[in-house]
Amino acid sequence: MPQTQNIVLIGFMGTGKSAVGRVLARRLGWRHLDTDAEIERQAGRMIPEIFTAEGEAAFRARESALLDSLAPPLLGAGGSSLAPPSLTGKGAGGLGFDGDLILSTGGGTPLRPENAALLKRIGTVVWLHVAPEAILARVAKSLHERPLLAGHRDDPLGRIQRLLADRVPRYAALADYTLDTSDCADSEEAAGRLLRLLALPIP
Ligand code: S3P
Repeated sequence: MPQTQNIVLIGFMGTGKSAVGRVLARRLGWRHLDTDAEIERQAGRMIPEIFTAEGEAAFRARESALLDSLAPPLLGAGGSSLAPPSLTGKGAGGLGFDGDLILSTGGGTPLRPENAALLKRIGTVVWLHVAPEAILARVAKSLHERPLLAGHRDDPLGRIQRLLADRVPRYAALADYTLDTSDCADSEEAAGRLLRLLALPIP
């Protein structure tokens, strides 16, 4: 794997994108950016408040704008080639992005086609996959913090399964690598597996 590289973690809520991202960044000595946290920072309000005050469409627009600020620019017509985006590492963005970044995304971030394309440009996309029952166990205590689940407390598993039915094919189509972490004891173990999967030296 090249020196300058970025890893993009995608997947459903509760699959460990943020926690695994933090562990990976610490172990590799790379930077970590979490789209949800960055959007909360920029908006000055938490995700549920953004959904309530601005609506889901506004939240999705914030996701797209953030990814756009991170993605390396496409070469114009005069460019001789489009280098693999994960290897270019030179973004135009105000966040000063220049590679060696772990990007943890929100569960719905890759669903807009333009976001999927931006994520591909940003880095190597790894889909963290977890069985629906394990997802429910992980998010059960934080349903109130999750706008897409909060209104479905009578049948959260059904809601998770319906969302997954729509999203799994889209995550799968986007992913360069897939990692099932259903049986991982913690995010350290998941991060270790991911480093092996990507053949990165395990620090
Ligand atoms: C969402 C997932 C959340 C957050 C928002 C919407 C989704 O992120 O972006 O509540 O559409 O699945 P996590 O996957 O980090 O929980």
